[in-house]
Amino acid sequence: MQIKSAKFVVSNQNVSNCPKTNIPEYAFIGRSNVGKSSLINMLTNQKNLAKTSSRPGKTQLINHFLINDTWNLVDLPGYGYAKVSRSQKNIFQKFITNYFKERKQLISAFVLIDIRHSPLPIDIEFINWLAQNSISFSIILTKCDKLKPNIVQSNLEKYKQKLQEDWEILPNFFITSSSKFLGKEEILDFINEINLSLTKK
Ligand code: GTP
Ligand code: MG
Repeated sequence: MQIKSAKFVVSNQNVSNCPKTNIPEYAFIGRSNVGKSSLINMLTNQKNLAKTSSRPGKTQLINHFLINDTWNLVDLPGYGYAKVSRSQKNIFQKFITNYFKERKQLISAFVLIDIRHSPLPIDIEFINWLAQNSISFSIILTKCDKLKPNIVQSNLEKYKQKLQEDWEILPNFFITSSSKFLGKEEILDFINEINLSLTKK
């Protein structure tokens, strides 16, 4: 899929204030600093569409971006950011879970995981929560430029094995690097195929 236009629409903390338009929506979620905003910029060929930072906790709102005037891409705050206060963490947690539970336009989520880490309980818990709530999702392994290809493959296998402990069917996995533009076409083609299947319905 070619990205012809990518425009910021709105930021807010409350799912009820999200755009009312009834177009397909795809959300990017994962731990703070995993590379959600960078991936969105990479997918849309823009440097600063989504705000990035080397310090975790940069994205604090639900951010909607309209792509090709036909679908929305959503940048979310990271979960598990240790430096915000407990009460702020609860507010974050609440509006993220409300977003996933209530947003009817959400077609599929992408859970981003830093390829360098072994499976972390917080990521596995979030993935299991999505699956238990019947929310469609894929997994995007980020920052793959930071490891040798054979380690990328062995870490990918570790994630698959870990998820197989709980689930018979595995989600799609995408291997990505925002700095090397790796995985871009695969993700955009995946979204395009779903969008096409929705228009045929
Ligand atoms: P929050 O908004 O704080 O939840 O973070 P985020 O998940 O949006 O992460 P962000 O895109 O801001 O990136 C965090 C840091 O990781 C930045 O310093 C990025 O430059 C770096 N980064 C993101 N993706 C990649 C990647 O593919 N490769 C490398 N080497 N660095 C990356
Ligand atoms: Mg961000």
